[in-house]
Amino acid sequence: MKILVTGCNGQLGKEMYAILEKELPGKTIYTDIEQLDLTDAEAVKTFVIGNEFSHIVNCAAYTAVDRAEEDKALCSRINVDAVCNIANAASAIGAKVLHVSTDYVFDGKAFRPYLESDKVNPISQYGTTKRQGETALIALAPDSIIVRTAWLYSPYGNNFVKTMLRLGKERDELKVVDDQIGSPTYAADLASAIYKILVSHQWVPGIYHFTNSGVASWYDFTNAIHRLGGIKGCTVRPIPTEDYPTAAARPFYSVLNTSKIKATFNVETPYWMDSLEKCINILKNSEN
Ligand SMILES: NC(=O)c1ccc[n+]([C@@H]2O[C@H](COP(=O)([O-])OP(=O)(O)OC[C@H]3O[C@@H](n4cnc5c(N)ncnc54)[C@H](OP(=O)(O)O)[C@@H]3O)[C@@H](O)[C@H]2O)c1
Repeated sequence: MKILVTGCNGQLGKEMYAILEKELPGKTIYTDIEQLDLTDAEAVKTFVIGNEFSHIVNCAAYTAVDRAEEDKALCSRINVDAVCNIANAASAIGAKVLHVSTDYVFDGKAFRPYLESDKVNPISQYGTTKRQGETALIALAPDSIIVRTAWLYSPYGNNFVKTMLRLGKERDELKVVDDQIGSPTYAADLASAIYKILVSHQWVPGIYHFTNSGVASWYDFTNAIHRLGGIKGCTVRPIPTEDYPTAAARPFYSVLNTSKIKATFNVETPYWMDSLEKCINILKNSEN
């Protein structure tokens, strides 16, 4: 087994490094844009074929959801063209690709958790390009696994948890939307699920949904972040989405049904608040 993890400086990439180096030390090469720009087709081909990888875990993406509305070309190059480059290079040597996608492929109009087979209808540039990446990968490397996740956070990089901890210390009041519902997901739990798929003795291609269990609004999520983070001097007030305009539209209902990944690969989906506590404890310890 020889694994390539791309996007290794991102939230998920760092968690993949942590679990793979603990459980399977020395079997993986980790790259980010400085080592391998995935939008460079020739470079990807040379690197992937030259290293004879058995598996590629693509954690790289253009993830700035609002900026993507303006920065369409770059977003598309990273979320679509780069995925095609990975698919083509992997196909040339029979490497298996595990790609990560998003709940934002859906429009959020559902009233029960989304199944993998549900109709997609992205409502943002980011969601559109992530869906195009999925379809391109399935066409070029049908043996691939796609794991859609949502509301990802970790101790690394910029994310909602770190922003709310910082704002909670800086301000005495915060207004947060309470009409978008999803499942906050700890990148370390997603990395554990991906690790389990990699080492399972079955590779069942297709799309899978993975999030932590339970649901919350961004308002609920913020209250939990402040409670677990020990922030007391900040009042969090619920507001509707219309009072917090953003460049990109977001799905109102983003909850993913995770039955398929649990049944196929026996992965665990810990309760979101338990995982949030673990992440916040890591952040607290890193401050000391
Ligand atoms: N974050 C979320 O809430 C969320 C929700 C649902 C799904 N997802 C999906 O989950 C996956 C992991 O997300 P994440 O939050 O870990 O993302 P992230 O923290 O933004 O990390 C992505 C990494 O990819 C790198 N990258 C960008 N362009 C590249 C290129 N041309 N070549 C090589 N590397 C490149 C980025 O580098 P730079 O920082 O230098 O650009 C960054 O280090 C993505 O597929 C994302 O779409 C994320």
